[in-house]
Amino acid sequence: MSTPVNSSGSIKRRLSLQLVGSAAILATILFVLVLNFARQVSEQSQDNILIASATSILDSTSIRSGEVSVDIPYAALSMLGNVSEDRVFYRISAAGVFLTGYSDLPEAKQQGTEQQNAERDRSFITTQYKGESIRIVSATRQLSVLGQPVDITVSVAQTQNGQSETLAQISRTALILGLGFFAISAALAIFAARSSVRPLHRLAVSVSRRGPKDLRPVQSPVPAEMIPLVASLNSFIARLKTSLTRSEDFIAEAAHRVRTPLATVRVQAEVVLRRVETQQNRKALKEMIRTIDESSRAAGQLLDHAMVTFRTDHLERKSFDLADLVLDSVERMQPVAGMRDIEIVMEACDPGQILGDPILIQSAVQNILDNAIKYSPPDQSIAINVQRQNGGISVQISDRGPGFTGNDNARLTERFIRGDNAADTVGSGLGLTIAKEVAQAHGGNLSLNNRSKGGGACVSLYFPF
Ligand SMILES: Nc1ncnc2c1ncn2[C@@H]1O[C@H](COP(=O)(O)OP(=O)(O)O)[C@@H](O)[C@H]1O
Ligand SMILES: [Mg+2]
Repeated sequence: MSTPVNSSGSIKRRLSLQLVGSAAILATILFVLVLNFARQVSEQSQDNILIASATSILDSTSIRSGEVSVDIPYAALSMLGNVSEDRVFYRISAAGVFLTGYSDLPEAKQQGTEQQNAERDRSFITTQYKGESIRIVSATRQLSVLGQPVDITVSVAQTQNGQSETLAQISRTALILGLGFFAISAALAIFAARSSVRPLHRLAVSVSRRGPKDLRPVQSPVPAEMIPLVASLNSFIARLKTSLTRSEDFIAEAAHRVRTPLATVRVQAEVVLRRVETQQNRKALKEMIRTIDESSRAAGQLLDHAMVTFRTDHLERKSFDLADLVLDSVERMQPVAGMRDIEIVMEACDPGQILGDPILIQSAVQNILDNAIKYSPPDQSIAINVQRQNGGISVQISDRGPGFTGNDNARLTERFIRGDNAADTVGSGLGLTIAKEVAQAHGGNLSLNNRSKGGGACVSLYFPF
């Protein structure tokens, strides 16, 4: 069971929110800038025409027989009308006295505070006139009347309806532009956030997909920011591997040291048994020999298991014939089977080369054969079938024993787990563990079934070619 990990939020979500937020701010700034620029440009162009109009009226003023005479050129006002449907007003005054036009039209100059053009004789103002917003430009020119300088001021004004319509249009376009910019940036931001956490995800997947025995360091390239994480993960894996190897070595060493003296004690016990005559003592000695057998068998299997663990970690594959190997194992087990008058029958023996570690596979086959002999009643036979199937080859060992009586066969392949039917037999619960680990290391599997006819267990090992 894995311990739940506390989460402090998602980097991807945080990054997406930050980037989308920045995109929204940038889109708003873009919108405001475009709008301001458009307003400036349209105001500037209106101002330019108003100046041209006022200047051309001013140029047409003259002094005739001591009187100011204005002859407004047609073009002066028509150039304003060309631009839009806006209304145009004008006012001409001499030395502050109204001459012609709209008498109530304010002069830009009089406001004083409004924007002053670089040339001193032009001023602009935006104000309300007859209930509408208008832009006024006032231009002044000095003329000499009877030797006296007189300021002639021409003010030309235009309503701003056309301009605001244009501005509304531009602001709509700017809004669409801003929204489009936001949408594209938000999509890019989410993509960027996703792709920046992708290496983390890839690392997590590659580590979690590993088998329980895969303690290789992570070697696939990772972004620079993840190097400290991967380096510490690798150093953790290395420490774990060292400590596992050390404990496997320790078990093997311990088992070896126990097995040798046990063999000596067993020989001694056998010798004593021959001399002892009292029934009670003989019984105690036999019990002792049985326990010694059990212990040395357990020690042997521990040793085998340590060997299997080591060899499956560094699997050396070579090509060999599985049927030959099974025949060899049968021959080795023959004396044990003979003691119980059990006959081992080779029912099928398909030849088939496989690529693997013969020492490991031999250990797996012998453990299964050992079980079959152990759990089968005396005077019965054990059937072996070596057959090609599904692109591989299987070894099936069937006996006439009690079969698998529990309902959870998978548990029997765990370390030190023995079944309910194992009470009277010597064993350590490692045989099937060894067989399964060997099969899996070769890409194959182990299956535990009962024989359909006549009862008994049927254990199969399968190896792909
Ligand atoms: N041929 C078989 N017939 C019946 N039961 C078996 C057979 N092989 C294995 N088992 C059951 O599976 C259990 C686990 O087997 P194994 O790992 O070899 O341990 P052990 O043989 O030391 O008990 C045994 O305890 C037994 O209950
Ligand atoms: Mg066994």
